[in-house]
Amino acid sequence: MAGSGWDWNLMRTRHRLRLRLLCLAAFPSWAAGADFVGSQSCAACHADLYRSFMQTQMAQSSGRVGTAAAQEQFDRTEFRDSPGQFSYRVGRAGSAYYFDFLQQGARQPIQGRRQFQYFVGSGAAARSYLMSVDGFLYEAPVSYYNRSASWNSAPGYAGFDYPYLTRPILPGCLQCHASGIQHIAGTQNAYATPPFLEGGVSCERCHGPGSDHIATGKPMVSPEKLAPAARDSICEQCHLSGEARVPKRGPDQDALPPGDALADHMTVFVRTGSMSQRKVTSHAENLAQSACKRASGDKLWCGTCHDPHSVPRAAEKAAYFRSKCLTCHRTSDCQAPQPSRQANGDDCVACHMPHNPVSDVDHVAFTDHSIQRRPAPASNLPPGNADLVVFRGGPASARDLGLAYAQVGLREQNATYLDRAFRLLQDAVAQGVGDTQTLVYLAQLYRDRSDDAHALPMYERVWRMDPGQYAAGSALGAYQMQRGNLEEAIRLWNQTLAISPALLLVRKNLATALWRTGRADQAQATLRQALEFNPSFQEAKDLLEQIVKSPAPVSPGIAK
Ligand code: HEC
Ligand code: HEC
Ligand code: HEC
Ligand code: HEC
Ligand code: HEC
Ligand code: HEC
Ligand code: HEC
Repeated sequence: MAGSGWDWNLMRTRHRLRLRLLCLAAFPSWAAGADFVGSQSCAACHADLYRSFMQTQMAQSSGRVGTAAAQEQFDRTEFRDSPGQFSYRVGRAGSAYYFDFLQQGARQPIQGRRQFQYFVGSGAAARSYLMSVDGFLYEAPVSYYNRSASWNSAPGYAGFDYPYLTRPILPGCLQCHASGIQHIAGTQNAYATPPFLEGGVSCERCHGPGSDHIATGKPMVSPEKLAPAARDSICEQCHLSGEARVPKRGPDQDALPPGDALADHMTVFVRTGSMSQRKVTSHAENLAQSACKRASGDKLWCGTCHDPHSVPRAAEKAAYFRSKCLTCHRTSDCQAPQPSRQANGDDCVACHMPHNPVSDVDHVAFTDHSIQRRPAPASNLPPGNADLVVFRGGPASARDLGLAYAQVGLREQNATYLDRAFRLLQDAVAQGVGDTQTLVYLAQLYRDRSDDAHALPMYERVWRMDPGQYAAGSALGAYQMQRGNLEEAIRLWNQTLAISPALLLVRKNLATALWRTGRADQAQATLRQALEFNPSFQEAKDLLEQIVKSPAPVSPGIAK
């Protein structure tokens, strides 16, 4: 947000946020016929399974704040973000849960209160919170951490010198943590109320829609009886993040129908060498490295060790998992000295699948699923420029690989990756690929090279194909502004903000255009909205002050 006037890089991620920025994938709608009925409808006939499943973290992975049994206390505990500029306090008033932010050491401190509406994460490790602004969902800057039983900055939020209230909740986030997502098509992050029909992972996410089963006894999907690729896909849709997940088709973001193979819907990429260098991988990637998996192939899957409907109690864990190992191994297979094995009650997992000290919500495996003879301590070497390779869904086309490099490149601001993305996406388009994902990323890469001759028509094409592509709308508005077509810029930016209201630079630019065309009132309103989203947005404050002082634009305040 530097400089006066208006800014080019509206689409750029300014901050590196691990995995959360995943652009999630396209799934077509569910098999026609049966409807979703919700987990509670299963309780009548599967009472024990229902009761036990509802105790799991998967079942409790999201909901409305205040409705779940939770460890967190909304007791007005206070903490400061790491630069120490703002302090935060959570609290509760009646049925409303909120947090306050207060700037430190200023004479007229910036302060405010926002409400928590929904939570994401069972809280076994941590819990995130969502705020709703006119039906658009954003992540709250505070999270609860179970291990330290305390509140703190949300993951990826430490280090901001302003209250960061504008991180949109994309459908992919809810697809992994909730069921029956009610995303409003054509918007970035707007949802119907409620945004999901059921909190947590529902029975039907793994067994398919249940109406026919209940009405006529038609069999449900039995995951363990599916072909291995479809079976594994049920868990991997949520437990395999990889470095990048690239949808094969358009950007719609429905859930994976049980029975389908993930590889038919998306390509999942990992880094070469990530296996040996880093332990920061998701469970499915991690398991794939194990000698057990490599030697037993499809015989071993998540369901070999985990019963999704119940989690063993702490006291039973060692024996429970040991019995799973012993479906393939004999106790005599292990060459560790007997005394040391006796000392821990021959807890196979304690020695071969230890816990890694990873951070709370990094979306990486706590438990080392690579099952090594002598687990090496986790090393967090910087990932560098290792090639991205297909983990699921190959062989990768130029488009898929290009989009993967673009996703990771933008997330990490990795120039080498962005360069590869540029060349691959150029090839793809030359070969006739023309979906919106490909075009919008390639247009951005052209624009970063100041190659407007290529970028502009590409953005125009995207906007014609899909007026939900806010990145195209915001860029096209900027081009119109640059050419002096203020009315056209205003129209495009209003449309863009209807899709994604928290694009603050678009708001500021729009305000400038409105002011210049004599609409000082509208300009002020859009700036006030920007300041709701970021109360520390100094340029918006300055501009607002200027407009209030001289509603008729004396100095237009636009560079370029
Ligand atoms: C729709 C997404 C989704 C699917 C499908 C899914 N999981 Fe999960 N799973 C999650 C999420 C999210 C969590 C973390 C829940 C939390 O703590 O908030 C989780 C947690 C778990 C845990 C942690 C233990 C616990 O107490 O719950 C295990 C084990 C697990 N999943 C296994 C599986 C297996 C096995 C499958 C496939 C049969 C599977 N999951 C399918 C989303 C999913
Ligand atoms: C995360 C995926 C997942 C979820 C969620 C899930 N199941 Fe299952 N279910 C499985 C798998 C895998 C199997 C087969 C292996 C097993 O029994 O553990 C199975 C087996 C079953 C079976 C047949 C075997 C048996 O144990 O009787 C029934 C019935 C069943 N599930 C019902 C439910 C109901 C009801 C819910 C919700 C309360 C539910 N499932 C939620 C994955 C899931
Ligand atoms: C009206 C009673 C009833 C309801 C409600 C019901 N089921 Fe079942 N379900 C059964 C019976 C009976 C079986 C055993 C069928 C058999 O063994 O042949 C069964 C079997 C299953 C199986 C094993 C695979 C199969 O179809 O044989 C799964 C999985 C399952 N149910 C899941 C669910 C889920 C999920 C729900 C809720 C959406 C649900 N059931 C609701 C009666 C019910
Ligand atoms: C060889 C046995 C085994 C297999 C196979 C296995 N797990 Fe696990 N998993 C474990 C053990 C042991 C734990 C630790 C349980 C504990 O301490 O509570 C665990 C823990 C987890 C957890 C909780 C978070 C964590 O990292 O501790 C999740 C989620 C999970 N597994 C998912 C999966 C998925 C998804 C798959 C398939 C890709 C899978 N597991 C395959 C043994 C296994
Ligand atoms: C589905 C069968 C299966 C299950 C379940 C299984 N393993 Fe294995 N495991 C294997 C096979 C096969 C090998 C390879 C043996 C070989 O190469 O001689 C192996 C290898 C290993 C190795 C040697 C690793 C290395 O790098 O040399 C260890 C250690 C191991 N398993 C431990 C476990 C533990 C602990 C469990 C339970 C948490 C477990 N396994 C569960 C099949 C399995
Ligand atoms: C006290 C820690 C400890 C416990 C408990 C333990 N192991 Fe091991 N295990 C080891 C070590 C250390 C090695 C490697 C020995 C070596 O390389 O000389 C090993 C080796 C192995 C191997 C590789 C054997 C080979 O052929 O290379 C397997 C398989 C294995 N263990 C399985 C198990 C199973 C199954 C259990 C539970 C029944 C278990 N271990 C319990 C420490 C343990
Ligand atoms: C690809 C699926 C996926 C996406 C996307 C995803 N998560 Fe998760 N999340 C998981 C799984 C699976 C776990 C369980 C542990 C693990 O594997 O890391 C988890 C764990 C968590 C936890 C810790 C829960 C606990 O055990 O206490 C929080 C909090 C969380 N996620 C928040 C979010 C938020 C907020 C978003 C979106 C902005 C998000 N996640 C996006 C799959 C996902």
